This record gives sequence, structure tokens and C-alpha cells, in this order.
Amino acid sequence: MNEKRTRVVQEKLHQVKEFLEPWRPLVNAHMTNFISQNYWVLLPEGVRTEALLLSNHELHDIFWNWGSNPEKFQLPSQIGKFLIDCWNLTLASNYMNDLKAGHQEYNGLFKGQAKCMSPKKLHEINSLKEVVSCLCESSDADCVVDVGGGKGYLGTSLVLDKNINVLSIDSKPINTKGALHIFRSIEASFTSYKDACTENGPKSLYRQITAFVTPETSLRSLASEHLGTKSDYKICLTGLHVCGDLASTCIELFCKNSDVLSMCNIGCCYNLLTEKFESDIKLEESVNIPGFPMSKYLTDQCYFLGRNARMLACQSLDRICDEKRMMKPNLFWRAVLQVHLERLFGPECDLTVGRRCSKATSLMDYLLIAQKYLKKDLQLTEEKVKELAEEMHMFYDSMAKFYCFRLALAPVVETLIILDKLLYLHEQGVDRAYIYKVFDAVQSPRCHGLIAVKTPEYGGEQGQSKW
Ligand SMILES: C[S@@+](CC[C@H](N)C(=O)[O-])C[C@H]1O[C@@H](n2cnc3c(N)ncnc32)[C@H](O)[C@@H]1O
Repeated sequence: MNEKRTRVVQEKLHQVKEFLEPWRPLVNAHMTNFISQNYWVLLPEGVRTEALLLSNHELHDIFWNWGSNPEKFQLPSQIGKFLIDCWNLTLASNYMNDLKAGHQEYNGLFKGQAKCMSPKKLHEINSLKEVVSCLCESSDADCVVDVGGGKGYLGTSLVLDKNINVLSIDSKPINTKGALHIFRSIEASFTSYKDACTENGPKSLYRQITAFVTPETSLRSLASEHLGTKSDYKICLTGLHVCGDLASTCIELFCKNSDVLSMCNIGCCYNLLTEKFESDIKLEESVNIPGFPMSKYLTDQCYFLGRNARMLACQSLDRICDEKRMMKPNLFWRAVLQVHLERLFGPECDLTVGRRCSKATSLMDYLLIAQKYLKKDLQLTEEKVKELAEEMHMFYDSMAKFYCFRLALAPVVETLIILDKLLYLHEQGVDRAYIYKVFDAVQSPRCHGLIAVKTPEYGGEQGQSKW
């Protein structure tokens, strides 16, 4: 293990953790309770005072400006300091540069699939196939195992464009079937691959299987069973948007299996992560092996984030700022409903309405849909709702502003989750492990991946390192 490098990663994770410490109530705040629990006071006094002097639009302009161009952002005030401090502890900031793999520009275009993929997917596949083929080269891997392969676009592109053997594994049979169907229809229109096949026979293999991957799965056996031809495939393990605990499972598999020489791991859906130290989760009832934390450093501190913080980490700050989006009014109506419910049924009331009211067009509409769903008499006369609307109106702007400040912390929480995984890799002796920005953050918000190549000391090959 390269202790110096491990220390550098640990130090950065420590700083992110320390920075988040005073903000824990804020990142774990549920917007539903903004009015009933007076969350406004969770913001520091200086920030509150400045925010109250700004109109809603003025504050949003500052926020969008910061989120769209954080490197150039300057604002000598408490609000400015808060936003700059948040940005400095995100993966995209220069402060994290020494944890990143060198950036490469890719301009390959996966022409054959353009018709059946969304622009987002096309962007992802075009970028990722280059990263993965580079990793295969660096580590001398001769096959890719794509865990959580979904519809198999990545596998298809690696086989047809890069001529790499791929085994795609997904736990849902419908995805396996879909992946084969998509591959066949794209293969049929892919002339360069067809030419290569006619001249020299099929060049690379692509298999899709249904299996639930766990840290105990033998990727080596699956590769030789399904790709055939040999029993000692050297594997590059990929996972595009491996949700929740699956990202951690893949990282564990990478560390444990000597046949897996390189890895590209891009997580998503942090809300689905199981936390080892979260008090309101009964681990014996959970089917998953907890995916957070992974590092010894956070495990030793029994560190936990909480569900709301993990939900927050899933937000796409870059997209929200790029599209200049504001808080949706139904979030405010939900907070008003909460006040009303607590007045009717007491402060312990924890009735939920989920997303059922998201189509509401006014407060009255919202409350009526909620009443129907809850099957309770909410005593909603026109006069009562008008009174409620007038009483609550004053909270709208402060809630919209609070929403911005909370969102600014989203990429910091995501950074903590990813740094924990990076540190785990280093603690396990994987010295060549890095953060890599694979996608454009506006096009694909979960854009940072972890890439790793095993060195010969760890049991990897002496490939041509680009990383
Ligand atoms: C968010 S989707 C990503 C699909 C694909 N990689 C993409 O980016 O289009 C995650 C996929 O992982 C699969 N999955 C979840 N847990 C799994 C497990 N333990 N083993 C295998 N597949 C799993 C799901 O069925 C789903 O198709």
C-alpha cells in the first residue's frame, strides 16, 4: 500500500466530513417540515440576514450563477463564502485534482446506435466505451464484465466498436432479453463489424446473462462459462450507474478477485444505499450487505449519513443551475399541508402522500388530492384554505431560498460517498485508483466514476499504463 497516497485521500475525506458536520441537520432536513419545524433557523444567522435582504430572484441569480460557473464565481459576503466553501469540497473542484486521473478528450461517435438511444445515453456510451477500452489496454484485460448491464448499450458498443469480449450481467431477465434484442438490431446495421466478421469470422463475443451479483460471485467462472473458449479471462469490471449497494459490491469484487485487473465504477441512486450505522434501519431485515461506509476510516467512526442526506446527494445541481430551475410550488404546498395535518392530528402526525399530489395546480387542488388519498376529513372549506394560504404565503420565498442553500450541499455529500470508496480502494492496497469525470455533468449528472488498475504487486499485469 502506498501510505502517502492513502493519507492524501483520507485527509480530503476528513475535510469533507468535517465541513459537513455542522450542516448535518440541514442535509437531513425534509422539505416537508420546513414550515412546521422552522428549518429556516438551520441556516447561519449571517446567511439568513443577507438572504432576507435579497429578493427570491436575486438570490436565485446568485445561486444559478455559482452552480453554472463555480470556478469564476466571486461574492464577498456570507452567502458567497458558503457557496465557495461548498464548491471547494466537491469532486469537480481543483482541490481534488491530485485524486483524479489525467483527463482525455474523446471524440469517438457511436454512430450505429444513435437512433435507439436517448441523447443522454448516447453521450454516456460514447464517453465510457473509450474509458473502458483504455482500461482494458492498460491492464491487459481481455474481456469486460458489465455488471448491472441493463439494456446492454455499453456492451454492444464495446463489442461492435472496440472489438472487446463482453459479458453483461443483470439481475432482471427482462433486461437480459432486451439487451440481446438491442444488440441484434444494432449489429444488423453495423457495417464495419459485419465486414470484419465476413473476412475473419466473428471477432469478439457478447453474452448477456441474468444473475444477481454479490461480493461472493465468481466472475471468473461466469466469464469462462458464458464466453467460453478459455478458463482464465483477465477481466475489466465495469458498471454504469450501478445503483445503491451494487457499486460497493463491484468494488469489493474488484479487490477480492485476482482475475479482475481493472475497474470503472459509476454509481447512482445513493438513496438506495444501505448504511451500516444508520439507526432506523434494521440490518437483519435488509437483504443487502451495507454499502456505506466502505473505508476503515469512516467505519471506525461508525459514520452514517441518513436517508435524506443520501436523497440530497442524488440531486443534479449542475442541471438545475443550467436550466435555471426553482423549487416547485408543490413542495411548498406539501409543507403547508404538513402544518395543517399537525394542527388537526397533532405534532407526531407522519402521514405521507408520496408523489400523488405532484399534478396539483393550486394549494386547494393539492389539499383536495391529499384528502382523497389519505381518506381523512381534512376540514377543507374554501374559507379555511384561503386563510391557510394567506397565513403561509410569507414562508414561500424563505423556503425557496432554503432549497437553494440545501442543494449547494448536494455535491459535497456525493463527494463524501465517492471518496469513501476511493479510500477503501487505497486501504486495500490498490494504489492506482482515481476519480474520473466520465460525463458532462449537465447531460449526465452522475458523472464521476472511480477507475482502478491493479499493479503487478497487487496481482495485476504490467500493462501500458495511461492512468
Ligand atoms: C440504473 S440501472 C443501469 C443500467 C445500465 N448500466 C445503464 O446505465 O443503462 C442498474 C441495473 O442494475 C441491475 N442490478 C441491480 N442490482 C443488481 C445485482 N445485484 N446484480 C445484477 N444486476 C443488478 C438492475 O436490474 C438495473 O438494470
